[in-house]
Amino acid sequence: MTTPRKLHIKSYGCQMNVYDAQRMVDALAPQGFVETASADDADLVILNTCHIREKASEKVYSELGRLRVAKDEAARNGRTMQIAVAGCVAQAEGGEIIRRQPAVDVVVGPQSYHHLPRLLRDAAQHGRALDTEFPIEDKFGLLPPPSPKAIRARGISSFVTVQEGCDKFCTFCVVPYTRGSEVSRPVKAIADDVKRLADNGVREITLIGQNVNAYHGDGPDGRPWALGSLLAQLAAIPGIARLRYSTSHPNDVEDTLIAAHRDLPALMPFLHLPVQSGSDRILAAMNRRHTADAYRRVIDKFREARPDMAFTSDFIVGFPGETEQDFQATLALVTQIGYAGAYSFKYSPRPGTPAAEMQETVSAAEMDERLVRLQTLIDTQQSAFNAAAIGTTVDVLFERAARNPGQIVGRTAFLQPAHVMASPDLIGQVLPVKIDSLERYSLLGALAQSADLNANVSSVQPASSRMMIGA
Ligand code: SAH
Ligand code: SF4
Ligand code: F3S
Repeated sequence: MTTPRKLHIKSYGCQMNVYDAQRMVDALAPQGFVETASADDADLVILNTCHIREKASEKVYSELGRLRVAKDEAARNGRTMQIAVAGCVAQAEGGEIIRRQPAVDVVVGPQSYHHLPRLLRDAAQHGRALDTEFPIEDKFGLLPPPSPKAIRARGISSFVTVQEGCDKFCTFCVVPYTRGSEVSRPVKAIADDVKRLADNGVREITLIGQNVNAYHGDGPDGRPWALGSLLAQLAAIPGIARLRYSTSHPNDVEDTLIAAHRDLPALMPFLHLPVQSGSDRILAAMNRRHTADAYRRVIDKFREARPDMAFTSDFIVGFPGETEQDFQATLALVTQIGYAGAYSFKYSPRPGTPAAEMQETVSAAEMDERLVRLQTLIDTQQSAFNAAAIGTTVDVLFERAARNPGQIVGRTAFLQPAHVMASPDLIGQVLPVKIDSLERYSLLGALAQSADLNANVSSVQPASSRMMIGA
């Protein structure tokens, strides 16, 4: 038995990176690595980086500066610390990272994580190793699966990557360059992953991909399957109570996906559907290839199929050429849709993207001002959405013990945290909860009797009308 080596991994960016971090841990477990909470005593530190906006990228170099000090300190104490940079900055900048920070041992792009054990050995022997290829093989097929112990430790909700990469080339975005073109995993490989997770206590699965509804993986019948069919297959796996998927593109919403929302009780009526802007002029300049009206129609279709469907979105303010009038169109769209929440960002020019060549026209002060106005509107909608839960009875999937003794916490269909006083034996179950109050973003309530739930069903209003009242 070799002594365990300590691995510290720090992830930035999207849920794809969160999932990849787990899979890197799984890939390194057979090499004797166990996770540790602090970088200082680690034998290997992996920074799993994000390149989406300038701030995200720059964090890497300040973090690497701190790690170099820790590495020198370890060396003085006769220990070796290896530093690896993974993720989208690794893919975008490659060897440049080692030139800027020579303490880095390994640079590994998102498609090459199955090569990590070899890269670490190469680096130990030759000083440095780099792999930013886009290999044709499926990295997930080659990565070792998580152990039952690892699955149980990670809790009852799990991500599973079903699709990676993006062919959309929105003019502001680095993802098509850092993650490569769209690739879908086969249905059987995904179903096997989900079965393994369900067998080890996982109750909720979020299928992830940069463009998850562009999914078109090989089905068991030899034909490509769309996301709606994949969801139906996974909903039938014993133990799976809830299914979600993220992130979707409005142009890839097929009728079978709408039908899945109508037909599959396990599929949660909550969707992140980024739109970026409400102005057709700006949408065209962003190469989103749809209008604001087309987006509204997609939302309407979902709401027809599932009247309680709620939505979140992403917005960019200050894209080159965005006028006050364009921005007003964004505010108008937000008001019309009525969101349960949304992320909004100031435009950040990214090297190598078409938008970075465009003349920037929105000053930093204007961007700040638009961001505040948009966020104020979204906050109002989010508060109204959460407040509308008070007095209703909703299904909660319990996830873990809460910080307050005697309480457990779970999530509603709309991912709102909900706290009740109850036994931890209920973790993993979906139970009706009568919501009494709202504390910041958390709902507080009590376990309901099933009679309460029945009484309540007829009075539950669709999310859309609930939000319009408050917004
Ligand atoms: N695939 C998703 C988004 C991935 S990136 C989609 O199609 O929408 C997550 C979010 O970051 C984007 O929705 C966008 O709002 C924001 N973003 C991406 N590039 C950006 C940039 N250059 N500047 C500011 N925000 C950006
Ligand atoms: Fe980026 Fe657009 Fe692809 Fe989303 S769809 S990942 S914003 S290029
Ligand atoms: Fe960031 Fe890469 Fe995700 S750029 S948002 S980590 S795909």
